[in-house]
Amino acid sequence: MVLDHSGTQKHNKMSNNSDYGLRENAKEYPMMLVLSFAYPCNALCPHCPYTNSNIRKEYKDMPYMPDDIFKKIADESGPYGSYLRISGGGEPMLHPNAVELLVYAKSKGCKIGLITNGSKFEGNSLEKLIDSQIDLIEFSVDADNEKDYAIFRKGLDWKLLNTNVERAVEYRNKIKSTTKIIVSAVNQKGVDIDSIEDYWVNKTDKKQNFGHGADYIIKRKYLSWGNNTEIDQTKSADPTPYSDTTNTPCPFIFERLNIDSRGNIMVCGYDISANTSMGNVVNESIKDIWNGEGFNFYRSKHLNNKGNDISICSQCPDWKYRSWNHNYWKVVKESNKVWLKKVKNMNFEDDFQMEEQKN
Ligand SMILES: C[S@@+](CC[C@H](N)C(=O)[O-])C[C@H]1O[C@@H](n2cnc3c(N)ncnc32)[C@H](O)[C@@H]1O
Ligand code: SF4
Repeated sequence: MVLDHSGTQKHNKMSNNSDYGLRENAKEYPMMLVLSFAYPCNALCPHCPYTNSNIRKEYKDMPYMPDDIFKKIADESGPYGSYLRISGGGEPMLHPNAVELLVYAKSKGCKIGLITNGSKFEGNSLEKLIDSQIDLIEFSVDADNEKDYAIFRKGLDWKLLNTNVERAVEYRNKIKSTTKIIVSAVNQKGVDIDSIEDYWVNKTDKKQNFGHGADYIIKRKYLSWGNNTEIDQTKSADPTPYSDTTNTPCPFIFERLNIDSRGNIMVCGYDISANTSMGNVVNESIKDIWNGEGFNFYRSKHLNNKGNDISICSQCPDWKYRSWNHNYWKVVKESNKVWLKKVKNMNFEDDFQMEEQKN
């Protein structure tokens, strides 16, 4: 059995006699490429792995992903319709060519998921991104009030965040763009994650009696990135694991890979210090790297329940929070349902029927 794009289990004879294997849409090429697009940041969030390490300083020579590296990734990924997750050790919208590059990638066929602190949408940059129908804009909000925001999103402006989320939702609705507007919050001690959902997504906030109209919320587990950072794991408000790592392979190596600003491919998102190098997009094809010896070694170990033999995996405290079902594909699906209702005035049943027709 393998899991398809949505994380649903399906029988597949190629699955190596295992319950797991490469996702259906990742057989040739990764379904998702997580890009460290920018390392500099205008904030100092206390839970952030980059606030709690020297990694940013180590990328002083290449703070932003150069245009040629980004365009090579976009050119290769476009034909597969893969997701480029635009994130990194800092704020992606500080990249001097952010809008131009994301619009370029979209025109090549890539799907785009931008992760942003929401503070750097100068001029009409937000509108241009929504005009180009980038797929998801994720605002990392982490709070439902000004006081908490000043703590958990240190250095950022609460009013500006509210303005920009509302601006994105209103503009998206007005032009009926396919862009989904979602928010995220890290589930840590000191915040009430359900109240954050109410504030940004639901219309149940008693004091204000309105939500901000975001389509969905990602409730992030509080991660530590192990030896890469000084993050205090005891601050997690929900340390319950998603997976038992003694018998469940890490899903990441079967669907996605991570690329730093230098074009180096790391085995996964745990390796934010780039200790692994599976290849470099500057002089190799991503397809070859994805299907190469390095990734196959990791996959085979994980499929044989020997992931813990690999030192980086055995030290990864975040593996237990990687889920085969509760993941980004679910976010894409759920936010799309909300979008259908809000923008296309279709109800859940219409959406359900569309899904049925596809199967
Ligand atoms: C490192 S940030 C970079 C993008 C952008 N600067 C932002 O804040 O959205 C990417 C995502 O990681 C999340 N994040 C930061 N620290 C985290 C932690 N300890 N556990 C889980 N997620 C975390 C952020 O909230 C954000 O949604
Ligand atoms: S805004 Fe993003 S990158 Fe910057 S410190 Fe906060 S979580 Fe880290």
